[in-house]
Amino acid sequence: MEKFLIEGGKSLKGSLSIKGAKNSMLPIMAASVLNSSPRDVELKNIPIIQDMFVMKQILQSLGMEVKSAGNTLLISSRNLDSYSIPDRLMREMRSSVFLMGPLLGRLGRVRVTYPGGCSIGPRPVDLHLKGLEALGAKIEENNGYIFASTSGLRGADIHLDYPSVGATENLMMAAVLARGKTVIYNVAKEPEIVDLQNFLNAMGGRVKGAGTETLRIEGVDSLESCSYRIIPDRIVAGTILMAAAATGGEVLLKGIIPAHLDAVVAKMKEAGVIIRSTEDSLEVLNGRLKAVKTLRTLPYPGFPTDLQAPMMALLAIAEGESVIVESIFEARFRHAHELNKMNARISVNGRTAFIEGVKKLSGTTVHTSDLRAGAALVIAGLAAEGSTVVSDVSHIDRGYERLERDLQKLGAKIERAVEI
Ligand code: UD1
Repeated sequence: MEKFLIEGGKSLKGSLSIKGAKNSMLPIMAASVLNSSPRDVELKNIPIIQDMFVMKQILQSLGMEVKSAGNTLLISSRNLDSYSIPDRLMREMRSSVFLMGPLLGRLGRVRVTYPGGCSIGPRPVDLHLKGLEALGAKIEENNGYIFASTSGLRGADIHLDYPSVGATENLMMAAVLARGKTVIYNVAKEPEIVDLQNFLNAMGGRVKGAGTETLRIEGVDSLESCSYRIIPDRIVAGTILMAAAATGGEVLLKGIIPAHLDAVVAKMKEAGVIIRSTEDSLEVLNGRLKAVKTLRTLPYPGFPTDLQAPMMALLAIAEGESVIVESIFEARFRHAHELNKMNARISVNGRTAFIEGVKKLSGTTVHTSDLRAGAALVIAGLAAEGSTVVSDVSHIDRGYERLERDLQKLGAKIERAVEI
């Protein structure tokens, strides 16, 4: 296990380019299963993060070849021959459930382990399964396993009870090879859904409507290889913006899509942060931090749940009392307890957190429970007085490509060390 050692109190300064989005990369890597041509799918702007390695192993376990060169992946599905995802890999990453749609489309069957809960609360897949059934899959659940099979998917009208990101993506990937037309109502509108649509269409799919509430998909017989560049990661960008603001720094983020961060920028401005935007950049300028009345996490274009923890670290040192309501996940406040170890004043009641801003946090040893909680603790450590140890950074490595290096470039005093 590794940890971060942070010497707090240094304002971040400088500029940074943001790499590709984890939450685009994962479904797009899964969708490369759909390529039935002998040529490779080429994916550019791939972040080199732990979740990428897990998805790579999953594809390899299905018989596919995955070669990487820097931030580019070449994926061949010529030898795809397995429909069963090993339990070990299923357990490592919930997103392995994304393979259901593409494998049903390509091979007519798939077997996965039930992904179950995780540290941010229960994460059911009922919407995925209901939608796949509507497309003509027969689903059997037995002893923690899900086996789905079909003699041929066919288009259908599907109404999602909730705009789940994963279910929308899984169903898009299944419907793209289904016979006839599929219309999916009440879908997720996240930028990563638009990215997946663009990728599927680059392979020859006929998908319309991503970014709106309704997707319309005309099934095609087969999909081809393509070369595709993943969109920049709005959650990593938001994390760095918050780190800059929490340290009273001035940071310019380049190569991003500022529109993807509208709700985040609006809330940060409400919290007193001065932010300047251009067509492809955002710049944080020093401002006086103040509390926000209520921040509620919501599906896109609302404030993203993935930035709730980093924003809590920022609000912990903002003047006044802020309220955060977590409406997406049931148990996503574990970082509050760790922030309190650093002298934050946060109380949690169910899905609501009350944050009474303090002048300064103090460094201590804190533990990461999940990816974004880890990012929040790093932000707190950078802003705190004294030294902070953030333990078990493997959670952070799942979604940030060497976060410490980006922060070092901006002048932060942060080192990676082995935990004994
Ligand atoms: C994706 C993101 C994750 C982000 C989340 C919400 C990826 C790889 N992960 O996760 O970073 O935090 O969107 O923006 O893209 N639900 C059900 N039944 C289902 C599916 C979901 O009840 O079948 C519930 C979940 O328990 C949760 C809510 O819907 O409470 C949102 O989940 P969903 O949008 O599906 O998130 P993920 O796709 O898992």
